[in-house]
Amino acid sequence: MTGDEPQLRVSKIRNGTVIDHVAAGQALNVLAILDIDGSGGESVSVGMNVPSGRIERKDVVKVEGRELSPAEVDVLSLIAPEATINIIRDYEVVHKTRVQRPTSVTGVLECPNHSCITNAGEPVDSEFDVLDEGVRCRYCETIFREEIAAQIGT
Ligand code: CTP
Ligand code: ZN
Repeated sequence: MTGDEPQLRVSKIRNGTVIDHVAAGQALNVLAILDIDGSGGESVSVGMNVPSGRIERKDVVKVEGRELSPAEVDVLSLIAPEATINIIRDYEVVHKTRVQRPTSVTGVLECPNHSCITNAGEPVDSEFDVLDEGVRCRYCETIFREEIAAQIGT
């Protein structure tokens, strides 16, 4: 290692998922989307404001022993459009994908409008169109963005 190589701040993992190139400041929202609060027992490492070439500072989230579902990746893409998802098996990156913004998300987010039909106990799945700046409920047209992580249904 030469003097100017950046140090690896968060150790490599053996098996699991590395969510890399997350916009600085979004790591905790990534954890919220993945429903990780420490109670599940997974081993999770978080790097915040780590120096990075492509975007100046980034956050990184590493989850041991878990590969993400497509629905989770869809919601992640809303708050971390630049993120790279790396699947790690036996210390090697076996799969690397850039997240892609979906045009809509169904059944994952809850509408923040309490009078929305999707919150009325009816058998209606929530559905949101993805805009450049947030998401819009197909039923009541409420647009939201900042609270996306908080609106993930469990
Ligand atoms: N990583 C890890 N554990 C491993 C292998 C990789 O935590 N066993 C992490 C690396 O630290 C990096 C990410 O997974 O944050 C992607 O690894 P790699 O593809 O080797 O790095 P880069 O080539 O820098 O990736 P990119 O081109 O996407 O920036
Ligand atoms: Zn609504």
